[in-house]
Amino acid sequence: MKVSKTKVVIIGAGMVGSATAFCMIVQGICSEVVIVDRNTEKATGEAMDLRHSIEYQHRNVRVRSGGYEECSDADIVVITASIPMGNIISRNQLLEKNIGVMNAVVDSVMATGFHGHFIVVSNPVDILSYQVYKRSGLPKSQVIGTGTSLETARLKNILGDIIGIDPRSIHAYVIGEHGETMTVPWSTVRVGGKDIFKIIEDNPGRFEGIDLDELVDQTAKVGFEIFNRKGSTQFGIASATTAIASAILQDEMRMLSVSALLDGEYGESGVYCGVPAIIGRKGILEITQCHLSDHEHHSFVASIQSMKKLIQDFDL
Ligand code: 2OP
Repeated sequence: MKVSKTKVVIIGAGMVGSATAFCMIVQGICSEVVIVDRNTEKATGEAMDLRHSIEYQHRNVRVRSGGYEECSDADIVVITASIPMGNIISRNQLLEKNIGVMNAVVDSVMATGFHGHFIVVSNPVDILSYQVYKRSGLPKSQVIGTGTSLETARLKNILGDIIGIDPRSIHAYVIGEHGETMTVPWSTVRVGGKDIFKIIEDNPGRFEGIDLDELVDQTAKVGFEIFNRKGSTQFGIASATTAIASAILQDEMRMLSVSALLDGEYGESGVYCGVPAIIGRKGILEITQCHLSDHEHHSFVASIQSMKKLIQDFDL
């Protein structure tokens, strides 16, 4: 019998990379996790620690550290490598430095003959996903950024607290840039099948004094609130990354907000941004075009334009 293994290589053994490895192991989404980092001692230490958790998990996921050669037969390579945030205050300030990091990572991965899926986590994730797509030469369906998957979780959390409901019972997709210019297409937001505007109308007490634009702002900024308190975010992004990887490996056909290449969708092309997309074994199968109000469309287009300008300025 042919035993088919599923292998995920995580580039970067920092807070995000190690939390992602742990989340994948806890959920048992693959049979092998390999951690690659320039700091090989750190990667080895993380892998050793993670191995000691296996006894208490549901499945034996084989964990180890290794070099880029591990990518040759990987199903997924997750890129979390980044220069340290340090005093950097915006995701875009990271761009200049992380372009070099991405080029080095992609070249090393592609030199192994890798033909799986990239999940890009490093920031600014939309621009870097575009760069990874261009540099790797892989089809657009195989280069996926975590995009607004995290904002989607954050919005649902905020709404869940207001309504007093499990965030997973809320249906919503945040789109646009993973960053301050993200957009909430409110017409996609439903609770128990009921649209959010009807929910607000029927629950005036719960929504008293709540302004939807402020919720959009909170969703966009909450990452920095975490960053200011603990120096990084890790568990939310690790869980979102694991969900995307699982959707690929298990051919789930799950709709998730991810950063995908726009190729005519929403009337735009040549840019990666957060959009709801169907994810399965072949990666991104289809992008959904949400209904946008004029205001939402305006904000979405502005977000795209600012990212396109960065792509042009950095000659990507
Ligand atoms: C986050 O939003 C900082 O992009 C990171 O959690």
